[in-house]
Amino acid sequence: MQVGLKIWRYDSATGDRALREYEIEAPEEATLLDCLDIVKDRHDGTLAYRKSCRMMICGSCGMRMDGAAVLACKTRMYDIAQEGRVPVISAMGNLPIVKDLVVDMDPFWSKFKAMWPWLEPGYDRPDDGREYRISQERMNVVHKEALCINCGCCVSECNAMESDPEFLGPQALAKGMRFVGDPRDGATVERLERYNREHGIWDCTRCYFCNERCPKGVDPRDAIAKLGAESIRLGIDRDMGAKHAKWFVRSAETTGWLREEELIPKTQGYVSAIKQLKFGASLARHGKVRPVPIPHVARDVDEARNLRKVVQEQDRAGALGIVQGERALARLAHGGGSESLEEIYARPGSAPRPFLPGEGSAEGQGSLTQADVTPGKEPTRKRGEA
Ligand code: SF4
Ligand code: SF4
Ligand code: FES
Repeated sequence: MQVGLKIWRYDSATGDRALREYEIEAPEEATLLDCLDIVKDRHDGTLAYRKSCRMMICGSCGMRMDGAAVLACKTRMYDIAQEGRVPVISAMGNLPIVKDLVVDMDPFWSKFKAMWPWLEPGYDRPDDGREYRISQERMNVVHKEALCINCGCCVSECNAMESDPEFLGPQALAKGMRFVGDPRDGATVERLERYNREHGIWDCTRCYFCNERCPKGVDPRDAIAKLGAESIRLGIDRDMGAKHAKWFVRSAETTGWLREEELIPKTQGYVSAIKQLKFGASLARHGKVRPVPIPHVARDVDEARNLRKVVQEQDRAGALGIVQGERALARLAHGGGSESLEEIYARPGSAPRPFLPGEGSAEGQGSLTQADVTPGKEPTRKRGEA
């Protein structure tokens, strides 16, 4: 098939920048990465890009196609070529370009390291030197986060990083949740304290572009929401973002709707609220504030209260209370949610259903009988072992 590509060429040494167009002959099964290989082999050997596995595992080939991050080795070109489209290929966003499609990943790896991407054991090693076992159900909690291949596609599209390059970002925070949610880790509070600092979890704008662009279904925004929920569960709630979230819940529970007039005093404190009276007056002039903010209780407030009750009865505090994106989308796609959760999770390709309290095997590190908060307890041996 005939494939047309426009590629942004850039040389950081000279500052030269140009959009070059290439017409190539490629096999019908070609991916974007195959097409770049053909360009480099047969048309222009100076083109620079990264690749390694060619099978969506190594995370090397992140780049932008028509302004949105993709993995080149995952992107089939057949339909695009049939439509006669000539896509524009450029380097990923939010990272400095070194040459053509190659970006400097140093800022990415620095943030990755800042998450302590290793387990801090919360248990003693078994005396017999054997490994601990952990139930699959417990690991399901961090299954999605563990799928991350560090490709940077989410970082490329992150709005918060665009305005604040110091923001830890979706990849690093998803990695953080991978360890916070791991029942073998013993540094949950220390980790959450770090992630709650400036440029941390509460600086995310919730644009959801990271969920949309992640080629592995990690859903980093959901991971950030889980970190926020875990922080609040453990009382790490001094950030205004945490106070803001808590006020949303309180407001919905008490009156059934969001009392925006009280949002600033409740999140920033009364002194700060007084300082912002001028801003408040300007909002009032534009009809954004009710003249007499007398709280009234919504007619169907019981719905909000029941929802809260369900969450509490199911003991879904913290990360377990976060609804995963794919579940919400699955429900939308099927108009009204006639499927049960079990049915949704039984679909081919669906992520495993999260482990809920009261479920899971009775054996193994992190199982029902050996909670992650009891380090040093007797190790569970494999079935049948002495
Ligand atoms: S949801 Fe948050 S982390 Fe994800 S891309 Fe948007 S701002 Fe960045
Ligand atoms: S979360 Fe997804 S998009 Fe982001 S680095 Fe990991 S695999 Fe890539
Ligand atoms: S080449 Fe490894 S993910 Fe694309």
